[in-house]
Amino acid sequence: MKQIVLGKNGPKAPQIGLGCMRLTGLQAAEAERLIRTAMELGVCFFDHADIYGGDGACESFFAESCHMTPALREQMILQTKCGIRPGFFDFSKEHILNSAEASLRRLKTDYLDVLLLHRPDTLMEPEEVAEAFRLLRESGKVRFFGVSNQNPGQMALLNEACGGAILVNQLQLSIAHCGMIDAGLNVNMENGASVDHDNGVLEYCRLHHITIQAWSPFQYGMFEGVFLGNTEKFAKLNEVAERIAQKYGVTSTAIAVAWISRHPAKIQTIVGTTNAQRLREICASDAVELTREEWYELYLAAGKRLP
Ligand SMILES: NC(=O)c1ccc[n+]([C@@H]2O[C@H](COP(=O)([O-])OP(=O)(O)OC[C@H]3O[C@@H](n4cnc5c(N)ncnc54)[C@H](OP(=O)(O)O)[C@@H]3O)[C@@H](O)[C@H]2O)c1
Repeated sequence: MKQIVLGKNGPKAPQIGLGCMRLTGLQAAEAERLIRTAMELGVCFFDHADIYGGDGACESFFAESCHMTPALREQMILQTKCGIRPGFFDFSKEHILNSAEASLRRLKTDYLDVLLLHRPDTLMEPEEVAEAFRLLRESGKVRFFGVSNQNPGQMALLNEACGGAILVNQLQLSIAHCGMIDAGLNVNMENGASVDHDNGVLEYCRLHHITIQAWSPFQYGMFEGVFLGNTEKFAKLNEVAERIAQKYGVTSTAIAVAWISRHPAKIQTIVGTTNAQRLREICASDAVELTREEWYELYLAAGKRLP
């Protein structure tokens, strides 16, 4: 599995991580098999959040089903998130500290590799967040920090207070949901694709060495569904992905990830499969380097446009 460095000086991590948001849909034995398969494939990076499964259920289930031990823990990179509460967002020092402590207990570990702030809280006081990060770092409870779903201004505001602590920004990104790419490709055009909803987040992250993690790499819209196999809405994309998949001897699932990995921003893809066999198919993307022509052909097949 190809490795990337998170942020400028963060840990090395596999380019594919396993998202654990859907884990509680499995039986314990299936979850154990999925996690074991991930480790065998080199996918030792696991993405959690305090809210997944409701009230930390996915974190607890993860640690129980893989029979977490200190030795196994050492082989993993564990990332979790905090800041979403029922009906509001909370980046207060107290909530960040309490949430990190609860995640540590549920994951049966005494340190988190990465802690992300899940969704922007407009009531955030950057100095308060910086203080929470300092306490967590100095106590050895959290090694690295990042954000999710933030725009450049929000990251800059936080980074100024936190001394550049933000290594990662986790954002929704797939061939069928890539506004951050559309806007850059359509600059100056009088069409909707030129509208930049994210304030140049892709370029900002590249300039500031902040690793983008792609969430929901197989979905379109906000959890509207999977575009692979959806020939009603994405006939052309499925046709092109299948053809390119055959050329490389992989599945179209691998091609969807290869499309993200091909971007020079060195994006880490967080896949949410709960199926060990599908995870194997996804990891076959590691050996695929799409040509420039193939990358653009897939982009256009997804219904996107170029000037
Ligand atoms: N930061 C955020 O705000 C945020 C938001 C959402 C998610 N996330 C993170 O991102 C991770 C991934 O999100 P996600 O689960 O929505 O992403 P995803 O990998 O795009 O979707 C996975 C789902 O698609 C299904 N699927 C059906 N056909 C598929 C195919 N051909 N290839 C791949 N999957 C197929 C999978 O089923 P099977 O299980 O049967 O394979 C699974 O239910 C989450 O686990 C979480 O860690 C972060």
